[in-house]
Amino acid sequence: MSKKLFTPGPSNVSQNIRVQLAKDIIHHRMNDYHKLFYQVTKKLKAIFNTSRPVITFTSSGTGAMESSVVNLFSKGDTVLVINTGYFGNRFIELCQTYELNTLHLDYEWGTSYNLEDVKECFTHHHIKGVFITYHETSTGVLNELKELGEFIAKTDALFITDCVSGMILHPFYFDDWKVDCALAASQKGFGLPPGLSFVALSEKAVERLPHSDLPKYYFSYQKYMDYYKKGENPFTPAISLMLALDVSLDYLLDYGVENIVNDKKYLRHYVEQEFIKLGFSLFVQEESIRGNVMVPVISNHRELNLGELICYLDERYNLQVSKGQGEFSDKMLRIGIISDFTKEDIDELIERIKAFIDKKEMLEA
Ligand SMILES: Cc1ncc(COP(=O)(O)O)c(C=O)c1O
Repeated sequence: MSKKLFTPGPSNVSQNIRVQLAKDIIHHRMNDYHKLFYQVTKKLKAIFNTSRPVITFTSSGTGAMESSVVNLFSKGDTVLVINTGYFGNRFIELCQTYELNTLHLDYEWGTSYNLEDVKECFTHHHIKGVFITYHETSTGVLNELKELGEFIAKTDALFITDCVSGMILHPFYFDDWKVDCALAASQKGFGLPPGLSFVALSEKAVERLPHSDLPKYYFSYQKYMDYYKKGENPFTPAISLMLALDVSLDYLLDYGVENIVNDKKYLRHYVEQEFIKLGFSLFVQEESIRGNVMVPVISNHRELNLGELICYLDERYNLQVSKGQGEFSDKMLRIGIISDFTKEDIDELIERIKAFIDKKEMLEA
């Protein structure tokens, strides 16, 4: 029996995508691949809502995050990370690893940032880049990008957005929101296994490339831009994943990102209500900043061991739910809804959790 992944990515991969993964591969320096490359790139641009290039790496999302640091900046550059959780923290670590002068605005988990704080930072420093996580997967917070982009566009800084989990499940407008570098990965809203990451680059970002002095080889944007014109990747791509991506993008574009966003929002509300009924509290207090990737909840059952519950659901029923990250690892459940779930799937999960809680309470009584 296959597992149901109620996790915030990777998510379940549908049968029609798995069929693509089993197909014969084609050679990446031949015309068939050029055709595939151009098709996929055109569709990715539609997903990112951009007329700009979108390049594809064989890597997980963190590879794309690292690529933005090493390609767009030089040692000692001052950058600002808007840090609203675990993945914001990863940007700080990456920037520090490459010895950037890394300023960070740190916000309490479960909250978003304040644009005025960002503006204030710009009055004191010559900031060359601003990093932000669109959907923060450790907390479920969706950070606003449009107004931030409008502000950054008037400065010298580049605007870098980690959309690894945010893409597809929320609206995203690379050009209109004046983003300079947007990062995404295959294992979340794209409905694919892990292994591909995507990077869109503005003109402002491309102009910076020759000025960056940080070491790079596999992740050099310039190399990918040079091969882009030929319909190729500089290095052997994950051809099977590219074949599957082509089909997955057709589905996403035909069904429409707007419809996916609405479906997921509806399902999220349903999950929220059901978990409240089960005696859990929602981690993100403000509805307006809740993302559609997952529902993070905190248990109010004092004796409930969430680790035991997670093992029970997985081993007994093949239902996989994620624990929290960082200091919330023992205190939070993250109920991912990226996979193609219906209300009935949610009901099954709720029923199993309820049975576990009731049994525990009976034993304790
Ligand atoms: C918002 C966000 N950024 C970055 C990453 C890192 O991506 P990966 O695990 O694919 O390297 C993740 C993964 O969950 C994520 O959710």
